[in-house]
Amino acid sequence: MKLLITGGAGFIGSHVVRLFVNKYPNYQIFNLDKLTYAGNLANLSDIEDRENYTFLKGDIVDAAYLKEIFSQYNFDAVIHLAAESHVDRSITDPLAFVQTNVIGTVNLLNTARQHWAANLPGHLFYHISTDEVYGSLGEDGLFTEETAYDPRSPYSASKASSDHFVRAWYHTYGLPVKLSNCSNNYGPNHFPEKLIPLAIHNIKNNKPVPVYGKGENVRDWLYVLDHARAIDVIFHEGQLGETYNIGGVNEWKNLDLIELLCDQMDQKLGREQGTSRKLITFVKDRAGHDLRYAIDSSKLMNELGWKPSVTFEEGLSKTIDWYLQNSEWLENVTSGNYQAYYQQQYAAR
Ligand code: NAD
Ligand code: DAU
Repeated sequence: MKLLITGGAGFIGSHVVRLFVNKYPNYQIFNLDKLTYAGNLANLSDIEDRENYTFLKGDIVDAAYLKEIFSQYNFDAVIHLAAESHVDRSITDPLAFVQTNVIGTVNLLNTARQHWAANLPGHLFYHISTDEVYGSLGEDGLFTEETAYDPRSPYSASKASSDHFVRAWYHTYGLPVKLSNCSNNYGPNHFPEKLIPLAIHNIKNNKPVPVYGKGENVRDWLYVLDHARAIDVIFHEGQLGETYNIGGVNEWKNLDLIELLCDQMDQKLGREQGTSRKLITFVKDRAGHDLRYAIDSSKLMNELGWKPSVTFEEGLSKTIDWYLQNSEWLENVTSGNYQAYYQQQYAAR
């Protein structure tokens, strides 16, 4: 098996690459990543010298490059994670999301189909997507695989578009595909532009913790290693042409989550309980802020036997420990351009 994983230097991708490199020594794993601000080879320093691992620096928007590497390495399957992934950035720079998430995905589909034309059924294109394509829930209900698409941010619109293209290649050209749509991930190596790692970084440094609006928006949080485990199961046992929703059965209002985080951090940092909660600062809401996401993963659980392995309290505790023990990683990714990004995103809020 020669497996191409795109976006493997990012948050989720690095956990997927590590899992496959360790668990399947007979697979050759190729990690294709552009190394944008979100890509970081330090995420994979423990496996970079493995014989079954190769890093390829490249851009999925570059169709000629994709053709070249498919010819050179003759991949059998693709797990496609490379994307622009942050909703706030999509509001300020939507075209970057169209480029990578839409054009990049179509380039990959085209290249895979052309390269595999002689034996399409022997191959697999597995597309990793998000629950945000389904839009925003009210107080009740869950997203199922049948929920109509209703994306509301440039990010989710670009991911919805990429999902449609993947299904189009299945129906029109017979490309063997699988898709999964996952809820919010958290865990080690998460870039500190996203809520949980940003809050950990700020609490650690006694800086204000920005909560958008009233902190009433709800997300369904899943530990990143459980997402990687689900991807492994779906890659090997999922049905062709099918979509699987992946969620944590773990809904939290943003404010409740940040309060739990503050309390766990106080305990770990030896601060008096209640100290970090004083850092919580309500700021201007995100434009078009989806109220609630919640996933029904019963198809994945019932058909493929997957379920989350850690509770939120455990996962959050492990995550905080990782950030406190990996200060160098955090300092490296928050130096340089991060400061300018932070200033631009939060100064005006
Ligand atoms: P991330 O931003 O941490 O990582 C994205 C990776 O893609 C980076 O390593 C980056 O360098 C690479 N990349 C970006 N543009 C590229 C390009 N043009 N060519 C090649 N590589 C490029 O993202 P993540 O949070 O790890 O998300 C990975 C995937 O999972 C995305 O497709 C995202 O939509 C999806 N997803 C994320 C979550 C979540 O909670 N983070 C939940 C559900 C689905
Ligand atoms: O649901 C899956 C999606 O989850 C993924 O597809 C995305 O790639 C991923 O970024 C994530 O999107 P969210 O927008 O839900 O995640 P984020 O961490 O940016 O925000 C989580 C919630 O916290 C959201 O309601 C906005 C709020 N928030 C976020 C930030 C960065 C704040 O209140 N303050 C902040 O500073």
